[in-house]
Amino acid sequence: MKNRYKIIFVILAVLLTAALTVGCSKINTMERIKKNGQVIMGTNAAFPPFEMRQGNEIVGIDAEIAKAVADKLGVELKIEDMDFNALLSALKSGKVDFIAAGYTVSPEREEEVDFSDKYFKAVQAIIVLKDNTSIKSRQDLNGKVIGAQEGTTGAELFRENSPYKNVTLKTYNNGANAVLDLKNGRVDAVVLDNYTSMALAELNPEIKILDDPATDPEEYAIAVRKGDKELLQTINDTLKELKDSGKLDEIFKKYIPEYKAQ
Ligand code: ARG
Repeated sequence: MKNRYKIIFVILAVLLTAALTVGCSKINTMERIKKNGQVIMGTNAAFPPFEMRQGNEIVGIDAEIAKAVADKLGVELKIEDMDFNALLSALKSGKVDFIAAGYTVSPEREEEVDFSDKYFKAVQAIIVLKDNTSIKSRQDLNGKVIGAQEGTTGAELFRENSPYKNVTLKTYNNGANAVLDLKNGRVDAVVLDNYTSMALAELNPEIKILDDPATDPEEYAIAVRKGDKELLQTINDTLKELKDSGKLDEIFKKYIPEYKAQ
């Protein structure tokens, strides 16, 4: 009899601990931001002009928008630079508070995160060597070896339900490395967001960007953990203020000399 009570007691204790752990593991984002005096942006800083390294600093369009969000929250901005495909789990586990990474809104991602208002339109550009004559438009990608950044919409385009046939996809930890392999002849083309492609084309005179993009236009937004309504509202308010004051266009022009209002 005594033993039975013991067992029941142990079971109850285990259940209670489990319930408490589950209850506590939910991150209270706003409380933590205020307590630490800091908000953490997750990004992959190899994506000019949205995020790139300048010495020890991370600069770019997203860094400036994120700084405005931090200012509005009245806290410091901390930026965590990581592999692009590590961003989602970093957000979910609470390592970062939001993702600002030229992050395209997609139905698959909408199941995992909440997106802010969209702030930029982009396309997946096709990059080839200047002297390439066999790839002139998107249809010519069929049967080719394509390079893209792992985890990006550019890479996903060649995975499940791809409109392309017989493509061999090679993925890299950033667009610059994909372009390096293009120059070394290991891939036939690179598929990468257009403004980052333009930034890379400036550094690499051997490459060119085709007029025809690889797929339909996309839009960038900032991602927060599902249900983080207050932070999302602050981000949306910040984006609106930046837009209405003309500051957002100024930021775009600062980083994209050829930028025209979208
Ligand atoms: N727009 C693409 C996507 O969301 C690529 C973004 C890459 N961003 C970066 N910071 N490396 O999948």
